[in-house]
Amino acid sequence: MSHRIGRARWVFDRTSWTPTLEELSLALSSVQKIEKDRIMNYEYFKDAIASLSGRLLMRKFVSDATGLKWDDFLLSREDRFKPFYANDAKIQFNVSHHGNLTVLAGETGGTQIGIDVMEMKYTGGKPLKEFFRLMSRQLTSQEWEAVEYSSLESQKEKTFFRIWALKEAYVKATGVGLNLPFNTVDFRFRSKLDQVGSYVEDTEVYFKGIKQDDWRFQEVLLNENLCVCVAIHCPPDQLNLYPALPFQTVSFQDMIQNCRPIIPADEDGCKRMLDKYQRDKKMN
Ligand SMILES: CC(C)(COP(=O)(O)OP(=O)(O)OC[C@H]1O[C@@H](n2cnc3c(N)ncnc32)[C@H](O)[C@@H]1OP(=O)(O)O)[C@@H](O)C(=O)NCCC(=O)NCCS
Repeated sequence: MSHRIGRARWVFDRTSWTPTLEELSLALSSVQKIEKDRIMNYEYFKDAIASLSGRLLMRKFVSDATGLKWDDFLLSREDRFKPFYANDAKIQFNVSHHGNLTVLAGETGGTQIGIDVMEMKYTGGKPLKEFFRLMSRQLTSQEWEAVEYSSLESQKEKTFFRIWALKEAYVKATGVGLNLPFNTVDFRFRSKLDQVGSYVEDTEVYFKGIKQDDWRFQEVLLNENLCVCVAIHCPPDQLNLYPALPFQTVSFQDMIQNCRPIIPADEDGCKRMLDKYQRDKKMN
């Protein structure tokens, strides 16, 4: 492979793919065994494909960025399970899934990176007020003010989930996962996020009341109700090396184009997964 890529913002929509035994078999044998075993354990096809597509995007990014063949490297997980490429700390990536979508952000300049894709709509069964009451400790008082600013419930939901995506992207960049209480970081908006496809990059983050200048948040709406936030963390004088990049749609065929099996094919396992696909399709 001659042409190496330096950056990526990719989105895969699982509904764009009709699974075939052949493609599924190649994909499942092109991820590490520990990941394949985890993927096979999902009860629902949508969860399995979300995770599988995330693994494929990560491997594609590392292969495209290093020029290494698909089967010439391994990915590891940090203590809190963030996947990473141990052989070159400059190569950083993160994936997120929600609904039908899997997204990846990748960079090769060594910045810490986290990504979250989020539907800006409350879909739980409780009244919104009750949901907010249960979440009260997750946001700071300034963030709740921003949520409550609008009298419209739909707008409150949008603001809440925008903040939530920022927090997830932040914790995912650091890799600390559930270890960091969500209300220790305080997000303050300077711009509305209401134009599909236009990035907002001026949201600020405060930690214990002090503005953090070594973070940048790139927020974009993929559609009216779906936002993605990419968190970039590096010395302030390097932030400009990572300008916002439009998301590029990747098909299943793109993801597996340069795949090479790294574990044996498992025809029975693939058939079981396809059975889940057919069963879940009938249920929906
Ligand atoms: C790890 C965590 C950040 C994942 O967030 P999520 O919104 O549930 O899931 P996403 O789809 O965005 O991301 C999942 C992917 O992130 C990656 N990931 C896993 N652990 C990670 C970590 N500690 N840091 C960064 N990325 C991580 C993985 O690739 C994972 O997919 P995989 O396991 O299938 O490979 C989340 O579990 C967490 O710890 N959140 C902290 C805050 C919190 O309380 N969240 C509640 C959300 S309702």
